[in-house]
Amino acid sequence: MQAPAVAIEGINKSFKANQPVLNGIDLNVKQGEMVGLIGASGSGKSTLIRVIAGFETIDKGQGNVRLFGKECQVAGRRTGAIRELRHDVGIIFQQFNLIGRLTLLLNVLVGRLGRISRLRGTFGLFPQEDRIKALQALERVGIVDMAYQRASTLSGGQQQRAAIARALTQEAKLILADEPIASLDPASAERVMTILRSINQQDKVTVIVSLHQIDHAFKHCDRIIALKDGKIIHDGNVEQITKEDLEDLYGVALADEDNHEIRGAGTKKPGKKAEKRPVYGNGRDPNPQLAAASALDA
Ligand SMILES: Nc1ncnc2c1ncn2[C@@H]1O[C@H](COP(=O)(O)OP(=O)(O)O)[C@@H](O)[C@H]1O
Ligand SMILES: [Mg+2]
Repeated sequence: MQAPAVAIEGINKSFKANQPVLNGIDLNVKQGEMVGLIGASGSGKSTLIRVIAGFETIDKGQGNVRLFGKECQVAGRRTGAIRELRHDVGIIFQQFNLIGRLTLLLNVLVGRLGRISRLRGTFGLFPQEDRIKALQALERVGIVDMAYQRASTLSGGQQQRAAIARALTQEAKLILADEPIASLDPASAERVMTILRSINQQDKVTVIVSLHQIDHAFKHCDRIIALKDGKIIHDGNVEQITKEDLEDLYGVALADEDNHEIRGAGTKKPGKKAEKRPVYGNGRDPNPQLAAASALDA
Protein backbone atom coordinates (compact mmCIF):
# COMPACT_ATOMS: atom_id res chain seq x y z
CA MET A 1 0.00 0.00 0.00
CA GLN A 2 1.14 3.52 -0.81
CA ALA A 3 2.37 5.49 2.22
CA PRO A 4 0.38 8.64 2.95
CA ALA A 5 1.94 11.86 1.67
CA VAL A 6 1.58 13.29 5.17
CA ALA A 7 1.02 11.37 8.38
CA ILE A 8 0.91 13.29 11.62
CA GLU A 9 0.28 11.70 14.99
CA GLY A 10 -0.47 13.49 18.21
CA ILE A 11 1.67 16.56 17.69
CA ASN A 12 1.71 19.75 19.73
CA LYS A 13 3.44 22.99 18.95
CA SER A 14 3.86 25.85 21.39
CA PHE A 15 5.90 29.00 21.06
CA LYS A 16 5.32 29.87 24.73
CA ALA A 17 4.93 27.49 27.65
CA ASN A 18 1.39 26.17 28.09
CA GLN A 19 0.08 28.03 25.06
CA PRO A 20 -0.19 25.42 22.34
CA VAL A 21 -0.68 26.83 18.87
CA LEU A 22 -1.21 23.29 17.58
CA ASN A 23 -2.92 21.06 20.08
CA GLY A 24 -3.01 17.31 19.55
CA ILE A 25 -3.13 17.22 15.76
CA ASP A 26 -3.64 13.90 13.99
CA LEU A 27 -3.73 14.05 10.24
CA ASN A 28 -3.37 11.72 7.30
CA VAL A 29 -3.24 13.03 3.76
CA LYS A 30 -3.19 10.43 1.02
CA GLN A 31 -0.98 10.83 -2.02
CA GLY A 32 -2.89 12.65 -4.73
CA GLU A 33 -5.32 14.48 -2.45
CA MET A 34 -5.96 18.20 -2.64
CA VAL A 35 -6.73 19.51 0.82
CA GLY A 36 -7.99 22.97 1.71
CA LEU A 37 -6.97 24.17 5.14
CA ILE A 38 -9.39 26.73 6.51
CA GLY A 39 -9.81 28.54 9.80
CA ALA A 40 -9.79 32.04 11.24
CA SER A 41 -6.62 34.06 11.51
CA GLY A 42 -4.44 32.68 14.29
CA SER A 43 -6.02 29.21 14.20
CA GLY A 44 -2.66 27.62 13.36
CA LYS A 45 -2.80 27.07 9.58
CA SER A 46 0.62 28.52 8.83
CA THR A 47 2.19 26.77 11.80
CA LEU A 48 0.80 23.43 10.67
CA ILE A 49 2.15 24.00 7.16
CA ARG A 50 5.52 25.02 8.59
CA VAL A 51 5.62 21.89 10.76
CA ILE A 52 4.90 19.71 7.73
CA ALA A 53 7.63 21.53 5.78
CA GLY A 54 10.05 21.01 8.67
CA PHE A 55 10.52 24.73 9.35
CA GLU A 56 9.09 24.36 12.84
CA THR A 57 9.98 21.63 15.30
CA ILE A 58 7.11 20.01 17.18
CA ASP A 59 7.05 20.05 20.98
CA LYS A 60 9.13 17.52 22.83
CA GLY A 61 7.69 14.43 24.39
CA GLN A 62 5.22 13.09 21.89
CA GLY A 63 4.03 12.94 18.34
CA ASN A 64 5.59 12.43 14.96
CA VAL A 65 5.47 13.67 11.41
CA ARG A 66 6.05 11.39 8.43
CA LEU A 67 6.20 12.34 4.78
CA PHE A 68 5.79 9.57 2.22
CA GLY A 69 6.32 7.01 4.95
CA LYS A 70 9.59 8.49 6.21
CA GLU A 71 9.84 9.97 9.65
CA CYS A 72 10.96 13.59 9.57
CA GLN A 73 10.10 14.66 13.12
CA VAL A 74 9.77 12.55 16.23
CA ALA A 75 8.79 13.98 19.59
CA GLY A 76 10.50 17.31 19.13
CA ARG A 77 13.49 16.13 17.16
CA ARG A 78 14.01 16.47 13.43
CA THR A 79 15.44 13.38 11.79
CA GLY A 80 18.23 13.11 9.24
CA ALA A 81 15.68 12.27 6.55
CA ILE A 82 14.31 15.81 6.57
CA ARG A 83 16.90 17.20 4.18
CA GLU A 84 16.16 14.63 1.56
CA LEU A 85 12.41 14.88 2.09
CA ARG A 86 12.52 18.63 1.54
CA HIS A 87 13.42 17.98 -2.09
CA ASP A 88 10.02 16.40 -2.53
CA VAL A 89 8.18 19.33 -1.00
CA GLY A 90 7.41 22.52 -2.93
CA ILE A 91 6.39 25.52 -0.89
CA ILE A 92 4.38 28.52 -1.98
CA PHE A 93 3.88 31.43 0.38
CA GLN A 94 1.45 34.31 0.42
CA GLN A 95 4.31 36.74 0.08
CA PHE A 96 5.93 36.22 -3.26
CA ASN A 97 9.40 34.98 -2.56
CA LEU A 98 11.24 35.37 -5.83
CA ILE A 99 14.60 37.09 -6.12
CA GLY A 100 13.64 40.23 -7.98
CA ARG A 101 16.95 40.98 -9.69
CA LEU A 102 17.27 37.47 -11.14
CA THR A 103 15.47 36.34 -14.27
CA LEU A 104 12.27 34.42 -13.94
CA LEU A 105 14.02 31.38 -15.42
CA LEU A 106 16.77 31.43 -12.78
CA ASN A 107 14.19 31.82 -10.03
CA VAL A 108 12.46 28.71 -11.30
CA LEU A 109 15.74 26.81 -11.69
CA VAL A 110 16.34 27.37 -7.98
CA GLY A 111 13.88 24.50 -7.65
CA ARG A 112 16.58 22.19 -9.04
CA LEU A 113 19.21 23.21 -6.48
CA GLY A 114 18.45 20.30 -4.22
CA ARG A 115 18.93 17.92 -7.12
CA ILE A 116 22.29 19.10 -8.52
CA SER A 117 25.75 19.25 -6.96
CA ARG A 118 26.50 22.15 -4.66
CA LEU A 119 29.36 23.31 -6.87
CA ARG A 120 27.21 23.45 -9.97
CA GLY A 121 24.52 25.20 -7.97
CA THR A 122 26.93 27.82 -6.67
CA PHE A 123 27.86 28.81 -10.19
CA GLY A 124 24.36 28.54 -11.56
CA LEU A 125 25.52 25.77 -13.91
CA PHE A 126 22.21 24.13 -14.43
CA PRO A 127 22.22 21.24 -16.89
CA GLN A 128 20.43 21.77 -20.18
CA GLU A 129 17.71 19.31 -19.23
CA ASP A 130 16.96 21.33 -16.12
CA ARG A 131 16.61 24.49 -18.21
CA ILE A 132 14.22 22.65 -20.50
CA LYS A 133 12.25 21.42 -17.50
CA ALA A 134 12.02 24.95 -16.14
CA LEU A 135 10.89 26.38 -19.48
CA GLN A 136 8.28 23.65 -19.81
CA ALA A 137 7.01 24.46 -16.33
CA LEU A 138 6.81 28.15 -17.22
CA GLU A 139 4.94 27.25 -20.38
CA ARG A 140 2.51 25.24 -18.33
CA VAL A 141 1.69 28.11 -15.99
CA GLY A 142 1.44 30.49 -18.93
CA ILE A 143 4.46 32.80 -18.44
CA VAL A 144 7.20 31.26 -20.58
CA ASP A 145 7.41 34.43 -22.69
CA MET A 146 8.68 36.24 -19.56
CA ALA A 147 11.43 33.70 -18.82
CA TYR A 148 14.30 36.15 -19.37
CA GLN A 149 12.72 39.11 -17.61
CA ARG A 150 13.71 40.09 -14.11
CA ALA A 151 11.33 38.56 -11.59
CA SER A 152 10.67 42.02 -10.16
CA THR A 153 8.81 42.94 -13.36
CA LEU A 154 6.15 40.27 -12.78
CA SER A 155 2.72 40.94 -11.32
CA GLY A 156 1.68 39.22 -8.10
CA GLY A 157 -0.32 36.58 -9.93
CA GLN A 158 2.58 35.90 -12.29
CA GLN A 159 4.95 35.59 -9.32
CA GLN A 160 2.70 32.99 -7.73
CA ARG A 161 2.55 31.12 -11.02
CA ALA A 162 6.36 31.28 -11.05
CA ALA A 163 6.41 29.75 -7.56
CA ILE A 164 4.24 26.93 -8.88
CA ALA A 165 6.59 26.52 -11.88
CA ARG A 166 9.47 26.26 -9.41
CA ALA A 167 7.68 23.47 -7.52
CA LEU A 168 7.04 21.71 -10.85
CA THR A 169 10.68 22.06 -11.89
CA GLN A 170 11.69 20.73 -8.50
CA GLU A 171 9.45 17.72 -9.25
CA ALA A 172 7.82 18.14 -5.87
CA LYS A 173 5.53 15.31 -4.84
CA LEU A 174 3.86 17.49 -2.24
CA ILE A 175 3.01 21.16 -2.62
CA LEU A 176 2.33 23.19 0.51
CA ALA A 177 0.77 26.53 -0.28
CA ASP A 178 0.15 28.95 2.57
CA GLU A 179 -2.52 31.44 1.50
CA PRO A 180 -1.10 31.61 -2.02
CA ILE A 181 -3.94 33.78 -3.30
CA ALA A 182 -4.46 36.12 -0.35
CA SER A 183 -2.69 39.03 -2.07
CA LEU A 184 -4.15 38.50 -5.53
CA ASP A 185 -7.04 40.02 -7.44
CA PRO A 186 -9.96 37.62 -8.04
CA ALA A 187 -9.04 36.69 -11.62
CA SER A 188 -5.39 35.96 -10.73
CA ALA A 189 -6.51 34.04 -7.64
CA GLU A 190 -8.79 31.86 -9.72
CA ARG A 191 -6.04 31.22 -12.23
CA VAL A 192 -3.54 30.19 -9.54
CA MET A 193 -6.06 27.84 -7.93
CA THR A 194 -6.95 26.31 -11.31
CA ILE A 195 -3.27 25.68 -12.04
CA LEU A 196 -2.73 24.09 -8.62
CA ARG A 197 -5.76 21.87 -9.18
CA SER A 198 -4.60 20.79 -12.63
CA ILE A 199 -1.16 19.87 -11.31
CA ASN A 200 -2.85 17.89 -8.56
CA GLN A 201 -5.07 16.05 -11.02
CA GLN A 202 -2.70 15.56 -13.94
CA ASP A 203 0.57 14.95 -12.10
CA LYS A 204 -0.97 13.39 -8.98
CA VAL A 205 0.92 15.88 -6.84
CA THR A 206 -0.52 16.10 -3.34
CA VAL A 207 -1.55 19.66 -2.49
CA ILE A 208 -2.27 21.19 0.90
CA VAL A 209 -3.40 24.77 0.56
CA SER A 210 -4.49 27.15 3.27
CA LEU A 211 -7.10 29.61 2.16
CA HIS A 212 -9.15 32.27 3.77
CA GLN A 213 -11.32 32.57 0.71
CA ILE A 214 -13.39 29.57 1.66
CA ASP A 215 -15.29 29.39 -1.61
CA HIS A 216 -11.99 28.58 -3.33
CA ALA A 217 -11.46 25.75 -0.89
CA PHE A 218 -14.89 24.36 -1.72
CA LYS A 219 -14.51 24.80 -5.44
CA HIS A 220 -11.02 23.38 -5.94
CA CYS A 221 -10.30 20.95 -3.11
CA ASP A 222 -11.42 17.37 -2.49
CA ARG A 223 -11.25 17.67 1.23
CA ILE A 224 -11.52 20.45 3.77
CA ILE A 225 -9.75 20.56 7.08
CA ALA A 226 -10.88 23.26 9.47
CA LEU A 227 -8.65 24.43 12.27
CA LYS A 228 -9.80 26.27 15.34
CA ASP A 229 -7.50 27.19 18.21
CA GLY A 230 -4.90 24.72 17.02
CA LYS A 231 -7.28 21.77 16.77
CA ILE A 232 -8.85 20.11 13.78
CA ILE A 233 -12.55 20.60 14.30
CA HIS A 234 -13.78 19.38 10.90
CA ASP A 235 -12.20 17.08 8.40
CA GLY A 236 -14.14 15.71 5.50
CA ASN A 237 -14.85 15.96 1.83
CA VAL A 238 -16.41 19.15 0.64
CA GLU A 239 -19.96 17.79 0.70
CA GLN A 240 -19.70 16.96 4.38
CA ILE A 241 -19.12 20.46 5.72
CA THR A 242 -22.31 22.28 6.66
CA LYS A 243 -23.32 25.83 7.25
CA GLU A 244 -23.28 25.15 11.00
CA ASP A 245 -19.71 23.92 10.77
CA LEU A 246 -18.66 27.16 9.10
CA GLU A 247 -20.58 29.27 11.61
CA ASP A 248 -18.84 27.42 14.38
CA LEU A 249 -15.52 27.96 12.68
CA TYR A 250 -15.82 31.67 12.08
CA GLY A 251 -18.14 32.53 14.96
CA VAL A 252 -20.73 34.32 12.83
CA ALA A 253 -24.26 33.39 11.83
CA LEU A 254 -24.86 32.73 8.17
CA ALA A 255 -28.25 33.19 6.49
CA ASP A 256 -30.28 30.04 5.76
CA GLU A 257 -30.05 30.29 2.02
CA ASP A 258 -26.28 30.11 2.30
CA ASN A 259 -26.51 26.50 3.32
CA HIS A 260 -27.26 25.17 -0.12
CA GLU A 261 -24.66 27.37 -1.73
CA ILE A 262 -21.89 26.40 0.64
CA ARG A 263 -22.59 22.73 0.19
CA GLY A 264 -23.28 23.15 -3.50
CA ALA A 265 -19.97 24.87 -4.01
CA GLY A 266 -18.29 21.61 -3.32
CA THR A 267 -20.39 19.28 -5.42
CA LYS A 268 -18.73 20.32 -8.68
CA LYS A 269 -21.79 19.42 -10.72
CA PRO A 270 -21.63 21.38 -13.96
CA GLY A 271 -24.21 24.09 -14.27
CA LYS A 272 -24.69 24.47 -10.53
CA LYS A 273 -25.31 28.00 -9.45
CA ALA A 274 -22.58 27.86 -6.84
CA GLU A 275 -19.93 27.25 -9.50
CA LYS A 276 -20.59 30.60 -11.09
CA ARG A 277 -20.48 32.66 -7.94
CA PRO A 278 -17.78 35.33 -7.90
CA VAL A 279 -14.97 35.26 -5.38
CA TYR A 280 -15.81 36.57 -1.92
CA GLY A 281 -14.46 39.88 -0.90
CA ASN A 282 -14.23 41.35 -4.38
CA GLY A 283 -16.94 43.90 -3.79
CA ARG A 284 -19.38 42.03 -6.03
CA ASP A 285 -20.09 39.31 -3.59
CA PRO A 286 -23.71 38.17 -3.60
CA ASN A 287 -23.36 36.72 -0.16
CA PRO A 288 -22.25 39.40 2.30
CA GLN A 289 -22.41 37.24 5.39
CA LEU A 290 -20.10 34.61 4.05
CA ALA A 291 -17.84 37.35 2.77
CA ALA A 292 -17.79 38.71 6.30
CA ALA A 293 -16.77 35.29 7.56
CA SER A 294 -13.92 35.26 5.06
CA ALA A 295 -12.93 38.77 6.00
CA LEU A 296 -12.51 37.78 9.63
CA ASP A 297 -9.40 36.00 8.55
CA ALA A 298 -8.00 38.87 6.54
N1 LIG B 1 7.10 32.27 15.43
C1 LIG B 1 6.10 32.49 16.29
N2 LIG B 1 6.33 32.92 17.55
C2 LIG B 1 5.33 33.13 18.43
N3 LIG B 1 4.03 32.93 18.15
C3 LIG B 1 3.72 32.50 16.91
C4 LIG B 1 4.74 32.28 15.92
N4 LIG B 1 4.12 31.83 14.78
C5 LIG B 1 2.80 31.83 15.05
N5 LIG B 1 2.57 32.23 16.32
C6 LIG B 1 1.24 32.30 16.96
O1 LIG B 1 0.59 31.09 16.73
C7 LIG B 1 -0.79 31.30 16.48
C8 LIG B 1 -1.17 30.66 15.16
O2 LIG B 1 -0.54 31.37 14.13
P1 LIG B 1 -0.58 30.92 12.62
O3 LIG B 1 -0.13 29.51 12.51
O4 LIG B 1 0.17 31.93 11.86
O5 LIG B 1 -2.14 30.99 12.30
P2 LIG B 1 -2.89 31.23 10.92
O6 LIG B 1 -1.94 30.92 9.81
O7 LIG B 1 -4.07 30.31 10.97
O8 LIG B 1 -3.31 32.66 10.92
C9 LIG B 1 -1.01 32.78 16.53
O9 LIG B 1 -1.50 33.09 17.81
C10 LIG B 1 0.36 33.35 16.32
O10 LIG B 1 0.50 34.59 16.95
MG1 LIG C 1 -1.28 32.05 8.21
